[in-house]
Amino acid sequence: MNYFLTLLGTLTIMFPVLASPVEAISFKVGDSEGWHSPGIDKPETFTLWTARKTFHVMDILWFEYKNDSVLVVDKWGYYHCDTTKPSSVFNDGNTTLVLDNPGKFYFISGDPQHCEEGQRLFVNVLPLPSNADSPAPSPVTSISGSSVVSVTVVSMLVSIAISALAI
Ligand SMILES: *[C@@H]1O[C@H](CO)[C@@H](O)[C@H](O)[C@H]1NC(C)=O
Ligand SMILES: *[C@@H]1O[C@H](CO)[C@@H](O)[C@H](O)[C@H]1NC(C)=O
Repeated sequence: MNYFLTLLGTLTIMFPVLASPVEAISFKVGDSEGWHSPGIDKPETFTLWTARKTFHVMDILWFEYKNDSVLVVDKWGYYHCDTTKPSSVFNDGNTTLVLDNPGKFYFISGDPQHCEEGQRLFVNVLPLPSNADSPAPSPVTSISGSSVVSVTVVSMLVSIAISALAI
């Protein structure tokens, strides 16, 4: 028990973000409409959706969709609706992704026509303000293994804890 408490204290010191999970925000992409093709008359739908939002590391994107998919792509893939070289593909209809690194993340529908109609998303993920003086970079390795985009599933939180134990 004492060991556990000590461990918990250590984790709290090393990873203040875990001690204040309220900072992570879960965003449902497209709000109640979900992840869908906006149709040819509203191609700006997802650009407008991100316009007044700020994304930080450890925030969560939640995609809900039917007969569709979420592809994590690079900038070129985003602008050209290129579905041929995604770094990750999700088609379970209910995909939750942790934005585990700062930087630019690009998502498109696996249906190129949907993408061209505006079903594509770009988010710029900012570092956590409270992380300013902590020793970056994080020891977490992305499951996707991609150096361009690093988005992983919620279980990443568990990996962070495990990484902490290994230090
Ligand atoms: C999904 O696709 C199936 C088969 O093409 C179709 O019957 C169904 O209506 C579609 N559902 C939605 C929500 O588009
Ligand atoms: C998707 O997952 C969330 C959280 O696990 C749940 O609240 C929601 O009902 C799910 N949606 C669908 C369509 O299964």
